[in-house]
Amino acid sequence: MQNRPVKTTTILLLSGSTRAGSTNSAALRSAHANAPVNITTILYDGLRELPAFVADADDDELAAPVIELRRLLQLADAILISTPEYAGTLPGSLKNLLDWTIPNGDLYAKPVAWLNVAAPGRGAGALATLRVVLDFATAEIISDACRSIFVGRDALGDDGLVSSEETREQINDVLRSIAAHVAARAEEVAVTSGR
Ligand SMILES: Cc1cc2nc3c(=O)[nH]c(=O)nc-3n(C[C@H](O)[C@H](O)[C@H](O)COP(=O)(O)O)c2cc1C
Repeated sequence: MQNRPVKTTTILLLSGSTRAGSTNSAALRSAHANAPVNITTILYDGLRELPAFVADADDDELAAPVIELRRLLQLADAILISTPEYAGTLPGSLKNLLDWTIPNGDLYAKPVAWLNVAAPGRGAGALATLRVVLDFATAEIISDACRSIFVGRDALGDDGLVSSEETREQINDVLRSIAAHVAARAEEVAVTSGR
């Protein structure tokens, strides 16, 4: 029997916070720094540079940050979003990013999970809105990989990463869960198409 080559899963990590000491960004930075084998992570850092969404912008007049966002979304097998809640919903900058994905269908059938690092019982408003937007964008929400893992401001080390080994492992488990989902989907497609 021939062994199938192990495929690397590419996961785009998207923080909804633009704050320098962001706990959401730190959780994703930790995921990026400690990603398990066979998982490649891309840490998105273009949120501040994205221009305000313009619904009738022609493709040939798109700003470089929008083109780069679309390139990364295309490259990614899946996306992990970690976002704070602002005023009961998503931060405007993250909603702006998500709006840019709508005209081209960049999130169509794209597996997406979320990480909620807010204190227990917080963040539900942001996640509810995120679900509405992802459903509209026809993304595939990976329910098994969506987790609440509290990361407080005092949980970050001098290196800007989550210092607790246990929490880092929980975050890594989210990545593994996303990769397992992507692999299962690929297997389904292979079986359906007789490959
Ligand atoms: C403008 C603003 C609005 C906020 N609104 C809410 C809110 O509606 N509900 C909530 O639980 N926290 C709210 N917060 C608190 C943030 O969600 C919280 O501080 C979060 O940890 C920030 O994430 P970060 O560390 O990644 O920047 C708000 C914070 C700011 C700056």
